[in-house]
Amino acid sequence: MSLAASPRSSSAPREHTGKPVLDRLSDPGTLWLAAREGVHPRPAVEADAGPIRDFLITQYDAFNATDNTVEGHRVFRDFVRVPALRGRLRAGSLMLLAERRGAILGVCEMHRDGYLTLLYVRGDQQGRGLGRLLFSMALRRLRAEAPDLRTVRVRAMPYARGFYTHLGFRPLRDGLRDDRGLRFYPLALDLDRV
Ligand SMILES: CC(C)(COP(=O)(O)OP(=O)(O)OC[C@H]1O[C@@H](n2cnc3c(N)ncnc32)[C@H](O)[C@@H]1OP(=O)(O)O)[C@@H](O)C(=O)NCCC(=O)NCCS
Repeated sequence: MSLAASPRSSSAPREHTGKPVLDRLSDPGTLWLAAREGVHPRPAVEADAGPIRDFLITQYDAFNATDNTVEGHRVFRDFVRVPALRGRLRAGSLMLLAERRGAILGVCEMHRDGYLTLLYVRGDQQGRGLGRLLFSMALRRLRAEAPDLRTVRVRAMPYARGFYTHLGFRPLRDGLRDDRGLRFYPLALDLDRV
């Protein structure tokens, strides 16, 4: 497994210096960004499972693997196996892709119980609003289907902790946790604030 260097240090998340971003989740500018950049967001279908798996493993190796153990790498790979992705799609999980000319730039998966399980943007596309775009689209769909949902939860890998905090997620417990070699910060977003 390649452990390519991350362009952003996971141990030093960027400080949030801007205004709160929750109100911007529904900003039409977010969709304008997609049009301007030629990015096409769409729901994933079962036929996408192979390219999604390849994309996710590449991004995990580049940005998350360094924080986890060999067992954690195995757990992640199991989670994104083609049959596992297809099974979750069939079971109704919300999976979105962002593409440009057929190349995957980002993937987001959210479950109907409010668990955000995957959010990945290709390294050379990070910091351009794609992560927020995918998250906000998935959240909008989820809220339409589960209007009583109050909280979105995520096990934030260290690399992504600053991003989630910037979007308004709060810690559920202090400190870094470990589940089968995957290290994460348990965070939650209260939807009455969005
Ligand atoms: C986390 C990730 C999905 C964010 O996607 P992205 O497209 O880079 O994020 P965006 O450009 O949409 O950022 C949205 C806002 O968050 C801010 N932000 C992004 N990363 C941040 C960080 N690490 N710390 C603080 N703020 C951050 C951006 O500056 C932007 O703020 P602004 O609009 O107020 O200027 C992306 O970095 C990624 O794929 N990381 C590697 C995989 C990973 O760790 N995924 C999460 C697994 S739990």
